[in-house]
Amino acid sequence: MTPGRFITLEGGEGVGKSTNVAFVCDWLSARGIEVVRTREPGGTPRAEAIRELLLDPAPQEPLDETAELLLMFAARAQHLAARIRPALARGAWVVCDRFTDATFAYQGGGRGLDETRIATLETLVQQGLQPDLTLLLDMPVEAAQRRVERRGIERDRFERERGAFFNAVRESYLARAAQAPTRFAVIDADRSLEAVQASIASHLTERLASWS
Ligand code: TMP
Repeated sequence: MTPGRFITLEGGEGVGKSTNVAFVCDWLSARGIEVVRTREPGGTPRAEAIRELLLDPAPQEPLDETAELLLMFAARAQHLAARIRPALARGAWVVCDRFTDATFAYQGGGRGLDETRIATLETLVQQGLQPDLTLLLDMPVEAAQRRVERRGIERDRFERERGAFFNAVRESYLARAAQAPTRFAVIDADRSLEAVQASIASHLTERLASWS
């Protein structure tokens, strides 16, 4: 049995991740590939319970930054054990809305936590597992923020952060992409949906050919 491939989508708030996660899943399914669509933090009942704790915008007490980091990895450990690894082992492909690059970008870049500590947790939890492909949807923070405002739904704990936080998140994502250019594909998300999806499809076509 050939193990499945692990594809992640990343980017700041408002870059169009959810729509494009659905697009990637449909694109792969149309080519006869069994796809498991999932997200982080979350993806299993216990990990989704941790997500609630992480995103709650009005907690009775502020969430300590180290606790936030550990909760992200606790949810990830559960998600990997209960959902991602079993799916990959049976040959399904996993398409995940965010993964550890988000921890480096948000807890590392945004919150300023030490990246070597994040890397230690990454090693502990992932034991060498990395995405095969990471599609980074990138666009200027102000334009992305305008999209979030237009959505008009209540903002979660992260969406309430300020522009400086999201600029640091963006810079951090771009720095990670530059460090791992083979794994990452950076997509300019400040274009029409058709143009963004044409670019995603072309990256998928290229990868599919190189993996077969
Ligand atoms: P979502 O809005 O894309 O579903 O993600 C939930 C929030 O969690 C989002 O604002 C980014 C944040 N997040 C982190 O801060 N660190 C992480 O490791 C992950 C996976 C998400």
